[in-house]
Amino acid sequence: MAVIAFRLDGVATSADPAPHETLLDWLRGRGKTGVKEGCAEGDCGACTVVVVEPGGVRRTVNSCLVLVPSLQGRSVWTVHGLARPGAPLHPAQAALVDTLGSQCGFCTPGFVMCLVEACHRDDLDAAWRRADQLSGNLCRCTGYRPIQAALDRVAGTRPDDALSAEAPLEPDQPVAHAHAAGVYLAPTDWDALWQARADHPDARLVAGTTDVGLDVTQRHARYAAVIDL
Ligand code: FES
Ligand code: FES
Repeated sequence: MAVIAFRLDGVATSADPAPHETLLDWLRGRGKTGVKEGCAEGDCGACTVVVVEPGGVRRTVNSCLVLVPSLQGRSVWTVHGLARPGAPLHPAQAALVDTLGSQCGFCTPGFVMCLVEACHRDDLDAAWRRADQLSGNLCRCTGYRPIQAALDRVAGTRPDDALSAEAPLEPDQPVAHAHAAGVYLAPTDWDALWQARADHPDARLVAGTTDVGLDVTQRHARYAAVIDL
């Protein structure tokens, strides 16, 4: 597989990433600098984006810990895709404006994406669940009360936005991405997994990359082969 194909802010996109390339680095290297880097280790949420999986599940993820090849066949939404120039703000953005939920603004794109996901959830029916929804994002200057008020306003409202209008994704297919820096394999059955292990006995096994992402961003680990379980 020469390229990794996915949707970015509703547009078909392809990439030729190294097996260790993070989504945050890839996005910022292509001008999507609204997606912020705070810690690059999964703690602050400034890099939050929404990933849509085949089957339609939408999840916020820390893009600093996501490897680009894992996005094959998925849809990624960033703060850039919510409101086109001249168009009204997304309700999540408007709510943060109305509640005065932003000061310096560095954390704001991450909180916006957290609120966007909340708009499309139907399980934020208790105060503790709505508080928990914000638990992956840090703000150092505004304070959480107005941000929580913005979330309370939009949670579960299912606005008629770009995410809700998105066409369904195709079911998962095996990934075998060869790059000069190494290969990234995502087998989808046992036989293919055992074969990948035989072909690349020293491959780094990953399953979500919340640990391996730290090796990449903090210890600058590089891999000749990655097998995504
Ligand atoms: Fe802090 Fe990603 S940059 S969680
Ligand atoms: Fe400054 Fe949140 S508005 S860190």
